[in-house]
Amino acid sequence: MSGLFITFEGNDGSGKSTQAKLLKDYLSKQGFCVSLFREPGGTEISEKIRDIILDNAYYKMKHMTEAYLYAAARCQLVHEKIMPALKGGQIVICDRFLDSSLVYQGIGRGLGVDLIEDLNRYATGGLKPDLTFFLHLDPGEAMKRRIEERELDRMENQKAYFHNRVYRGFLEIAEREPMRIATIEANRPLEAISKEIAGLTDRFINERGL
Ligand code: TMP
Repeated sequence: MSGLFITFEGNDGSGKSTQAKLLKDYLSKQGFCVSLFREPGGTEISEKIRDIILDNAYYKMKHMTEAYLYAAARCQLVHEKIMPALKGGQIVICDRFLDSSLVYQGIGRGLGVDLIEDLNRYATGGLKPDLTFFLHLDPGEAMKRRIEERELDRMENQKAYFHNRVYRGFLEIAEREPMRIATIEANRPLEAISKEIAGLTDRFINERGL
């Protein structure tokens, strides 16, 4: 695969979506061909699945159903959009990817990281990000930002206990793969964060020679 696959991860409210957009703009200005997707979503089918997953009406959803729906949305996005873009030499930025399932469903819901990895092996075809930015923000602060932003969806509405588990899950995963996952302190001005991310991406591209 000749392109570059970059993902953004973090708790709800950590500011990763804003940073993903800023990185896209930065790289586009340098002349790279960049695609930005979000998970769950990014294709017509995956956006429909997103609507189901995040709908507060579906409070009866079983944890395994949730895990399958995220994997199904991912399968469609990977095969319809991400793989072709990478094969075409593009830079693909994804706002969340498999790490979110490992953390939210594997650790947060308690289904287990191994089970989620197995389930997603078929969805991703083994695709892994080259570089991941984990936006690190204290879960209490993230919660404050979420409440200020807008009406909360089904996942955001989970109890503080769940979001704390998710937070610890991200720390665990980032510690396990320090070569791929860069931890970025998110409790700083927007520009400081985007500058650090741009610098790390430049370095990665130079080392890899894209
Ligand atoms: P977003 O708010 O970043 O768009 O993500 C939607 C929600 O879905 C967010 O609460 C995180 C959650 N999520 C999972 O639980 N598992 C996953 O695999 C993904 C991609 C997201």
